[in-house]
Amino acid sequence: MTIQLGDTAPDFTQESSEGPIHFYEYLGKSWGVLFSHPADFTPVCTTELGAVARLKSEFDKRNVKVLALSVDPVDSHKEWIRDINETQKTKVNYPIIADHDRKVSTLYGMIHPNANETFTVRSVFVVGPDKKVKLTITYPASTGRNFDEILRVIDSLQLTANYSVATPVNWKDGEDVVIAPAITDPGELERKFPKGYKVIKPYLRMTPQPNR
Ligand code: BEZ
Repeated sequence: MTIQLGDTAPDFTQESSEGPIHFYEYLGKSWGVLFSHPADFTPVCTTELGAVARLKSEFDKRNVKVLALSVDPVDSHKEWIRDINETQKTKVNYPIIADHDRKVSTLYGMIHPNANETFTVRSVFVVGPDKKVKLTITYPASTGRNFDEILRVIDSLQLTANYSVATPVNWKDGEDVVIAPAITDPGELERKFPKGYKVIKPYLRMTPQPNR
């Protein structure tokens, strides 16, 4: 099954390094990042899971719960977490799903058989508080992800969920944004963008980030 943007993120119950996880219950009213990695005790995954632990306060600030996953069993996760903590100078502070029966990987299409028959690829799903999928990313096993980029996208998703704007190329929190093309009524423009806006082309209008 291919999960596409706007789909409802499938709910599941599965074992994890912190006990059984009921996905929707775990998320509550928060945003969520569900991400898979190929296997425990591998070098790139070790650096990735360490980086996510070090970014915990950044995810917390944005009201985002993180959840990792591979097809390794709970005992393996627990042993590997000791290595991550030791080598990445952090403490893994989020659960890692032990998807031994591939229930969740299959539900989310995290195994790409033409890349690898057995292991999950590096999938990322960002889920909104409405349980809809807001972002999907897939990386191959050989390339570690950039979790600063995932935080950047979450900033954009959270901003654009609440204001009639979109974020331009390489945008970072605090920078100017573009006004959604659908907003053309002068009164509405004035009301929604009290800080003013610059018309570069009729379809390209820049405004200061509205929530700053
Ligand atoms: C790694 O995490 O280092 C890795 C995992 C699978 C294949 C290649 C690298």
